[in-house]
Amino acid sequence: MTKLKWGMIGGGEGSQIGPAHRLGALADGRFEMAAGALDHRPDVGKEYAQRLGIAEDRAYGDWQEMLAGEKVRADRVDLVTVATPNSTHFEITKAFLEGGFNVLCEKPMTMTVEEGEEIVKVAAKSDKICAVNYCYSAYPMVRQARAMVRAGEIGKVRLVVTNFSHGHHGDATDADNPRVRWRYDPAMAGVSGQFADCGIHAMHMAGFIADDEVKSLSADFASTIASRELEDDAMVNFRMSGGAVGRLWTSSVAIGRQHGFDIQVFGETGGLRWASEQPNQLIYTPVGGRTQIIEKGEGGLHEDAQRLSRVAIAHPEGFPLAVANIYCDLADAISGELRDGLPNAVDGVRSMAAVYNAVASAKEGGMWMDARPPMFR
Ligand SMILES: NC(=O)c1ccc[n+]([C@@H]2O[C@H](COP(=O)([O-])OP(=O)(O)OC[C@H]3O[C@@H](n4cnc5c(N)ncnc54)[C@H](O)[C@@H]3O)[C@@H](O)[C@H]2O)c1
Repeated sequence: MTKLKWGMIGGGEGSQIGPAHRLGALADGRFEMAAGALDHRPDVGKEYAQRLGIAEDRAYGDWQEMLAGEKVRADRVDLVTVATPNSTHFEITKAFLEGGFNVLCEKPMTMTVEEGEEIVKVAAKSDKICAVNYCYSAYPMVRQARAMVRAGEIGKVRLVVTNFSHGHHGDATDADNPRVRWRYDPAMAGVSGQFADCGIHAMHMAGFIADDEVKSLSADFASTIASRELEDDAMVNFRMSGGAVGRLWTSSVAIGRQHGFDIQVFGETGGLRWASEQPNQLIYTPVGGRTQIIEKGEGGLHEDAQRLSRVAIAHPEGFPLAVANIYCDLADAISGELRDGLPNAVDGVRSMAAVYNAVASAKEGGMWMDARPPMFR
């Protein structure tokens, strides 16, 4: 099988998410890394790209150069990943979609709801794929949970409780560290800190597993370290269109919690529980029955979970392989088989609408707001 050609913007040496994309994209032999503009410093990016095996003429100094260079090639890249800081996502994603490229954009897809709606429209017009890296939704046991909900195995969903709370910004003496400070500065981070950074993963996950949309929300934001302008802790209550009640806690000052992302979905006939720190197990309790552990790789899983379980039962698969699952689904989509569940621009704009409405709600003392983007009301 001919490999698809993949290019990356951002994700340079030493970046947080770059390695997960490289491991993920290359894991299954479906893509080869053909081009890149990997760093905000052109020379550093070019040098690193060549060390990764990219040919000199496709190791670009910046994304504009990459767009111009790739557009005119017969063997142009099939997919571009945007893994730069948040404020650049809109401009780069839009330009590549308009240039006729499929795009995988890091979250958050944009900085505003208006930009998000524009990306949805540009993607539809371009007829190209615009995926957004809500990679936790690609863990096999998360796909299993969604399939179980869809198959009615826990009945109608009543309640979703999710947390994405860690403690890595909880040290007040570290609050002025430049790598931490920007996240709580509106000039750099936008309207929201922790909710936009981590909370949107949890909110996407709630909609993904419950197979429903978040319709309205009420938020309480706190800056527990006084020098922070944006929130480092948020509690968001929400309601889903199908009637389910949602509770979401996200925090960066929860000292002792490491990654801290988990979700519980309670239906009329059973409950499910998944945690990113034990991603290979899904805990299932039928009403009146014993609690069971469903393992990645075991027999009898739903098709989507089976397909994405690579190594044998009880051998851990972790974060880079969840990202690899996004790339598997992208390779299928580019080859003409669109997989249900691949997070896309609609998920991206829904997240931005949730962020803006949570900020507005928190400012109004928790007033309930419509959580949906105007285009989906
Ligand atoms: N999906 C996830 O779970 C997840 C996890 C972590 C980060 N992220 C997202 O990934 C993005 C990057 O985050 P990070 O933590 O890796 O950041 P980072 O600061 O560690 O790295 C950013 C990289 O982008 C490069 N860069 C910056 N501007 C650029 C430009 N204009 N052109 C080319 N390269 C440029 C930098 O040189 C650096 O290599 C953010 O949007 C973040 O929200 C997502």
